[in-house]
Amino acid sequence: MNTTTSTAYNYRVVRQFAIMTVVWGIVGMLVGVLIAAQLVWPELNFDIPFLTYGRLRPLHTNAVIFAFGGSALFATSYYSVQRTCQTTLFAPMLAGFTFWGWQLVILCAAITLPLGFTTSKEYAELEWPVDLLVVVVWVSYAIVFFGTLMKRRTKHIYVGNWFYGSFILTIAMLYLVNNAEVPVTLTKSYSLYSGATDALIQWWYGHNAVGFFLTAGFLGMMYYFVPKQAERPVYSYRLSIVHFWALICVYIWAGPHHLHYTALPDWAQSLGMIMSLILLAPSWGGMINGMMTLSGAWHKLRSDPILRFLVVSLAFYGMSTFEGPMMSIKTVNALSHYTDWTIGHVHAGALGWVAMVTMGSLYHMIPRLFGRTEMYSMPLVNLHFWLSTIGTVLYIASLWINGLAQGLMWRAVDNSGLLLYSFSEVLDVSHPGFIVRLIGGGIFFFGMLLMAYNVFRTIKASDPAAVAAAPRYTVGEAH
Ligand code: HEM
Ligand code: HEM
Repeated sequence: MNTTTSTAYNYRVVRQFAIMTVVWGIVGMLVGVLIAAQLVWPELNFDIPFLTYGRLRPLHTNAVIFAFGGSALFATSYYSVQRTCQTTLFAPMLAGFTFWGWQLVILCAAITLPLGFTTSKEYAELEWPVDLLVVVVWVSYAIVFFGTLMKRRTKHIYVGNWFYGSFILTIAMLYLVNNAEVPVTLTKSYSLYSGATDALIQWWYGHNAVGFFLTAGFLGMMYYFVPKQAERPVYSYRLSIVHFWALICVYIWAGPHHLHYTALPDWAQSLGMIMSLILLAPSWGGMINGMMTLSGAWHKLRSDPILRFLVVSLAFYGMSTFEGPMMSIKTVNALSHYTDWTIGHVHAGALGWVAMVTMGSLYHMIPRLFGRTEMYSMPLVNLHFWLSTIGTVLYIASLWINGLAQGLMWRAVDNSGLLLYSFSEVLDVSHPGFIVRLIGGGIFFFGMLLMAYNVFRTIKASDPAAVAAAPRYTVGEAH
């Protein structure tokens, strides 16, 4: 092998996905703010079917998870796999197709969900023709990603790529199994499974969408961008390997914790609970590994808001992966299930972990993609960091309080066993919490607008010639 050959990275598709991450973040979170407002003022439905809560809620979840989160995962995986493998993307045309194909999937979702076309399976609402498109794009993604790994010029495969790889493969498997359905018309299909089997498969999918889409993929991001931004090697490479195998082997069994006290066999529920409790160990192992990467670089937190984004995201990751196992304990779940506590837990992970690690990674990557040394305004990055942190804390704190109040009030009975509170009384108590959540979400959303402005100005100030000449890399240099 010629050690002096230099490689031009394929940044075009990375840039496209990075920009769309910001765009979809804004769209998805705007819908989140709207539905949060509808919970405060139900009149905001305007009696228009496609603006009703039931249609906008899946639009929000699909937009933030698959459009925002998905674009972030495509962008960062394409960026880091090239750099850690010291090579350019395999099948660049196919990589380009994954961008346009994924945007088409998002467009189809944005049209069909408000129109009410849905399989009614949470996080798998898209109807079968869109599912087929997802499969084509996902297989192309796998070919590009694993093809790039195959033609790598480094000896070993960096741990971040293991996480990205497991996310790509597992999501493919989950998607195919859970979306097995019988089409009856172009816009309606029925699941191949029924009853408790359908529920089990749905939550095997749903939980692992969390475990592999919202966790393993983003851990790939963490393993690349935290060491890069801190300019330190990963704290323990050995721990990262243990982290990887433990996480992927345990996650896949925890799904039944979504189905406590249902028709699912009791042993399956208990298995889900036990696996969820065990999951605390690898989750925290990974978080500690990320945090400790800052050993000797903690002082950088004082001056580097990008690093702050990354570290605080890890803190929220630690928090939500402590809370999750607790909520999977049957007796705790008896209180938390159906309440806002679950929604608070979701957003501790979604805002605190997924969105904040994405923002940190984008702020690291965008100047490099556009031939600049740093973002247009670092004070704005700092302001964004504080808005995101405060917004997340307001969101989750208000819903913890709501969740506890709802759980306790729903189960309160008098001496003769009659319910002490009506449903509307519980709603009244929840109302202030809904308002605080709306404020928290609004603040978080405002931060996204600042980010969009900052990204726009950074791109505008970039030199087109520097952008066109993709950075080259000489094998043997540090990546
Ligand atoms: C401005 C930010 C956001 C706001 C205001 C917001 C608001 C909301 C609201 C009001 C709900 C419905 C809650 C309910 O039915 O009681 C919801 C659900 C959900 N959101 Fe968000 N959201 C935001 C950002 C995000 C992000 C970034 C993600 C993921 C990366 C996310 C993922 C979810 C998920 C998965 C659910 C469904 C939870 C469940 O069914 O248990 N959200 N969001
Ligand atoms: C060790 C890790 C985790 C465990 C054991 C865990 C456990 C749980 C449990 C027990 C529930 C409530 C189920 C119910 O009552 O219906 C839940 C809901 C949820 N969790 Fe986690 N969680 C973990 C980490 C995370 C993270 C990091 C995220 C986000 C990035 C997340 C996202 C969600 C979502 C979206 C739901 C709501 C699902 C739904 O009902 O629609 N979880 N989790």
